[in-house]
Amino acid sequence: MIKVSKTEDGMIFNLSNQKVSYVIQIVDNKFVTNRYFGPALPFFAESRDLDEGHHAFAVYEEGNKFSVSNLPLEYSFSQNGDYRQCSSEVRDADNLPLTFAKYVSYDEEAVHPDNLPQLRSKNGNFLNLYLKDETTSLEVILHYFLLDDLAGLVRWVTYKNTGSKSLNIEKANSLQLDIPDTDLNMLSFYGTHANEFVPSVKPIPDGIEEISSNRGSSSPQHHPFVALIDKHFDLNHGNFVACNLMWSGSFKIGLEKDQSNQIRLNAGINEDNFDWKLEPGTIFNTPQAILLFGQNGLGEMSSLSQQIIKDYVVESRITKPLLTLNTWESAYFDIDEKKSLEAVDQAKEIGANLLVIDDGWFENRNSEDGQLGDWIVDKDKFPNTLQKISDVAHQNKIKFGLWIEPEMITTSSKLFHKHPDWILGINSLRNKLYSRNQLVLDLSKIEVQDHLIEVLSKLIEENQIDYLKWDFNRQLAPTFSQGVSRDVQGKVEYKYVLGLYHILETLRNKYPKLIIENCASGGGRVDAGMLYYTDQTWISDLTDSLGRFRILTNMATLYPLEVFSSHFSKSPNEQDGRILPVETRMILSSLGSLGFELDLDKLSSSEIDMIKELKDWYVDNYYLLHDSICLPLTPLRQNATDTIGVLLKGKSDSLVIYSYGATDAVHQPQYLPLKYLDESRIYYVADRKISGVELNYAGVTIPPVMGDFRVKAIKIFG
Ligand code: DGJ
Repeated sequence: MIKVSKTEDGMIFNLSNQKVSYVIQIVDNKFVTNRYFGPALPFFAESRDLDEGHHAFAVYEEGNKFSVSNLPLEYSFSQNGDYRQCSSEVRDADNLPLTFAKYVSYDEEAVHPDNLPQLRSKNGNFLNLYLKDETTSLEVILHYFLLDDLAGLVRWVTYKNTGSKSLNIEKANSLQLDIPDTDLNMLSFYGTHANEFVPSVKPIPDGIEEISSNRGSSSPQHHPFVALIDKHFDLNHGNFVACNLMWSGSFKIGLEKDQSNQIRLNAGINEDNFDWKLEPGTIFNTPQAILLFGQNGLGEMSSLSQQIIKDYVVESRITKPLLTLNTWESAYFDIDEKKSLEAVDQAKEIGANLLVIDDGWFENRNSEDGQLGDWIVDKDKFPNTLQKISDVAHQNKIKFGLWIEPEMITTSSKLFHKHPDWILGINSLRNKLYSRNQLVLDLSKIEVQDHLIEVLSKLIEENQIDYLKWDFNRQLAPTFSQGVSRDVQGKVEYKYVLGLYHILETLRNKYPKLIIENCASGGGRVDAGMLYYTDQTWISDLTDSLGRFRILTNMATLYPLEVFSSHFSKSPNEQDGRILPVETRMILSSLGSLGFELDLDKLSSSEIDMIKELKDWYVDNYYLLHDSICLPLTPLRQNATDTIGVLLKGKSDSLVIYSYGATDAVHQPQYLPLKYLDESRIYYVADRKISGVELNYAGVTIPPVMGDFRVKAIKIFG
């Protein structure tokens, strides 16, 4: 609910639900300040006064009580005397910087940023604050959407040119939040290919700290997420304010500790390659940013974020267990009709219900050097086309899935020869920049988007495709669009991402049963934006289930199990040579959607029997392994060989999954407090009746085991 009250020199907007309050105050009739973000307030009484002191070096506009250099501002503009990192840089037609848009009015209309991923606003309240710069006729609208039932809200900003001359937006953040507490750490995630989501916790230094991507995609290098956490933050203690940007392109999240020890959080698209010419009468929307608040540590943050993503972002088409058999690590580029038909038999034998033909099915694609862009079935490998495989799969009640990397092109493709101007980059002037031997199609162009929609639609219809694995194996550089004027170049990266969203949205609308898996060499573009348009995510190319379990459990800080896919693969593992028992590989691959990525004919009959048994266990516990909330029982790990425990908390039952990591010679039981169960309830573990209090504090017993990398699953019946 939003309470609005008038003050002597402005207004107060109190956005409160049962869990959280977010209070905005307009002061001096123009400045939009943040006055409170924390546990729900019964009422707001300004217990913290704003700083009215006239400080040395502070800048004041004539007649103003407050200085922009000290106020906790909701959004700040460049060159106006707030020397901290700003949210917005706009120049007018004469190249003069816009210095200040001031508050004019508000409304509570439900508004949605067109063509962008957004919280599906089932329950919540909107507040829109209108700011205006009179000299340039720029309107800046700060949007807020407060969730009804969870301690979260969403912010984004609209720029509107209401004048008669064009403006240039050079920076446009989604949110700014000034926080008066200082003794905080920052939590973020970094990584690389096959080593995604490594946690980083460090003190916020004096000065500026930034995480970003300028790679055209959200990237595994840094995730568009930051949490400000208490120094004593642990699994179930400590305050947090967290921000997750719903954006799949380049981004920047900045933290600045200023001279008066306030911390400014700023998040938005990366302005490095950004310059948006805003023509008269047009608008520009920033992506949405999700803000979270809590007081009970990592477990609460994970639960809150997963719940928001589940309830408001993902609209999954996976309604029952999807058990995949993927051909990549069994055949690589050497896939053909014979192997695909064998894979159908293997899928049948093991009880898988989805066959995915991975890379290598199309013309001139026998290695990473091969062609991309034409998407014509290789007749030598598939003399009866893919239709035959799809038919046989369907006859066996197995869904048919296909790998594709639509955003890419190679110079060996017919498409390149027909449309050399469709690549990002300067085709005729400079050496092209290759990565995995490929170039990137210019998705900022409508004709490229239309072409891809046509090609994909044809493939889907001709082969009755149920499932698309959408891959993206390089990042963007340069981001120059051919044949467009200089003043459009600064729009290319943003328009590329919107082009991608448009294609995905069109396919989803056109094929209401189509399931799309998001993959970018594994977890190279996992973000809340992509989760809005896809059903499943291939989180890492690391198929060593121990390593991937580490990545997955860290990702569960933000995202729910239902979006992750994990594949049981061979041992020794293809990427790191790790040898793991079948049971470990099966159980650790069972979080999310279980799949298989190996030649099952190479396994012994006892291994197959064990796999079948554990597959049945997976199906029986799908409501927990796929649909529950995953809560940490051990700290976030950088290393997979450490012990990792999670509680998969369902509505009544729960499941503990514990990975012992590398063994040592201490053969004594460990005790694992379950922390998050309902303390007023009685549970059963095996046939022992135990109270929620005892399980939360005394915990369950983890018996000693012999050997490296064992796992234990303990069911808690509620
Ligand atoms: C990268 C993906 O993550 C792999 O699973 C596989 O699909 C390859 N690309 C194919 O080129």
